[in-house]
Amino acid sequence: MRNKTKTSMLFSAIVFCGLSLVSATNVFADKSIHQVSSETCKTCHKEIYKQWKGSMHANSTAFNDPIHGTFYRNVVGDPGQEGVKTKAGKFPVCIQCHAPNAAKDKKTKLDATPAYAEGVNCVACHTLKKFKGTTAANGKMQLGMMAYEVSDVLQGSGRHSNTKLQKLASAGDAFGFGGGEADQKPNPHLGEAVTIDGKTIQAMPMESNPTQLRSSDACMGCHDKRNNSHGVPLCATGDEYIASNAQVDCLSCHMPTNDAVADHSMGGGHDLGMLQRSVLFSMDSKKNGGNIMSTVTIKNKQPHTMPTGAPFRNIYVKISAYDKSGNVVWQNAKGHPAKEDKQAFMFLTLVDGDGKPTGPPTAKGQGADTRLKAFEKRDLEYSIPAKGVELVRAELYYNLLWPGLVKKFTKLPTDVTAPKMIASAENSL
Ligand code: HEC
Ligand code: HEC
Ligand code: HEC
Ligand code: HEC
Ligand code: HEC
Repeated sequence: MRNKTKTSMLFSAIVFCGLSLVSATNVFADKSIHQVSSETCKTCHKEIYKQWKGSMHANSTAFNDPIHGTFYRNVVGDPGQEGVKTKAGKFPVCIQCHAPNAAKDKKTKLDATPAYAEGVNCVACHTLKKFKGTTAANGKMQLGMMAYEVSDVLQGSGRHSNTKLQKLASAGDAFGFGGGEADQKPNPHLGEAVTIDGKTIQAMPMESNPTQLRSSDACMGCHDKRNNSHGVPLCATGDEYIASNAQVDCLSCHMPTNDAVADHSMGGGHDLGMLQRSVLFSMDSKKNGGNIMSTVTIKNKQPHTMPTGAPFRNIYVKISAYDKSGNVVWQNAKGHPAKEDKQAFMFLTLVDGDGKPTGPPTAKGQGADTRLKAFEKRDLEYSIPAKGVELVRAELYYNLLWPGLVKKFTKLPTDVTAPKMIASAENSL
């Protein structure tokens, strides 16, 4: 199993002999690390691959994410075309975060190679060497890949990438270690190609870099903030986090360890389990004369806004009173509470030059922002006619999109347009 192949030696011999013309089509040629597909990493890191594959990182390109795809096609163009430019004649900034390996090559045909099509894949994060900040020295924004020093060498978090002593101690036999998920697998990160199941895996050397990989620096380049072309912040998770003064980093919640390995599922708004952990939701109801006074309390447990991220994320509360047969006798709103019960709808409004609500690409400013701030606790008060009421029930719903966008983008699958109930509370009277 742990045989070193002759590939790298053979390859050096070919180059050494001056036959470099062969190299472009040479089957022995190593791919540049940012072109190595996650399918290669899967050979050994099966569990992490599975977690990543189910995440939005693996589905971040305009081909794979239907919501991003809809916006990308409207605002930028065809993700299957090379040479696409923005209206201002620039390389589309979206690609810097949504298809980072293509951005590294300044390419816009996102299905040109597996590494482009995989979006935020293994090598996209594991080649980030140093976070430079999202604002450049000249004051301009540098987003996604541009916010980082990027390496040609894989970056590890330091558990298995401090191998220098091991190499010294086991001179000649570099493959004698394992442990953890890839136990019993030959290690291609020590600088030599290896074979496994008859397949050659190119050398993928690795540096130990806990400063980058074990802190929020691993996320901030893409998640800090992003402005549209009019300078309006569309998402600002990083800014929200900094303002919260939280000491706990993104990884504590978004990459918990599971079976001694950092979990790569990285759930957010598309992940019901994460959404259910975002707030404390409770209700207290008391009779007061002919009325029931109900207080619904929502406490945001996160060091960022609830909801955070894309500006069209929103939450709303439905509260209903039932009689003893379970019939609804009172509701805060018939359908969506946007009109009848404004306090129950928590969202960010983007506005055009005249202050009218508009979409992210055309926004000239931010309007009202009624989302819950980091760690905010908010009470919603209701007075409900008590006659015949046996039970009051409150439900909290999360939506990836504003109601208006759901109506507009009729082709989107219902699993991304349907409201998701993320919490509930009941009081018997
Ligand atoms: C969004 C960024 C991101 C992506 C995508 C990503 N990783 Fe990671 N990975 C990290 C970070 C950050 C850590 C360090 C976590 C820690 O140690 O706290 C890490 C840690 C690891 C570790 C060490 C695990 C441990 O607990 O010792 C392995 C192995 C790994 N990643 C492999 C992969 C593979 C394989 C893929 C693709 C299937 C992948 N990663 C995709 C960011 C990423
Ligand atoms: C041929 C098997 C093999 C392949 C393919 C492979 N790895 Fe690994 N990788 C290992 C072994 C062995 C270790 C040592 C640790 C262990 O046993 O988990 C390791 C460790 C790691 C670590 C942990 C570093 C640390 O500091 O703890 C990261 C990150 C990682 N690999 C990323 C990747 C990425 C990204 C790819 C694809 C580009 C990849 N690996 C492909 C075998 C492999
Ligand atoms: C190279 C850029 C990049 C890096 C680095 C990165 N992300 Fe992401 N992340 C994205 C993109 C792009 C998406 C959105 C995919 C989509 O919805 O189209 C995303 C999605 C997410 C989501 C899910 C959002 C949803 O809609 O459900 C979470 C949570 C997340 N990232 C957390 C992290 C964390 C934690 C880190 C650091 C360990 C990190 N990301 C590093 C680009 C990145
Ligand atoms: C205390 C736990 C916690 C910490 C710390 C935390 N988050 Fe979250 N995050 C959550 C939960 C829970 C959700 C799901 C609810 C929501 O969307 O706000 C979430 C959602 C997200 C989303 C999804 C947004 C979307 O559009 O779907 C992103 C992106 C994100 N977090 C990024 C980060 C980043 C970046 C950091 C570090 C700067 C961070 N988070 C720190 C708990 C946390
Ligand atoms: C700085 C990095 C960055 C840039 C640049 C960027 N995005 Fe994103 N985008 C993200 C991240 C991270 C998420 C997911 C988490 C969140 O909501 O914050 C996301 C989410 C989205 C979503 C929501 C996807 C969903 O599944 O709900 C849309 C739509 C979107 N982006 C469109 C675009 C378009 C169009 C562009 C270019 C004009 C663009 N983005 C540029 C980082 C970026």
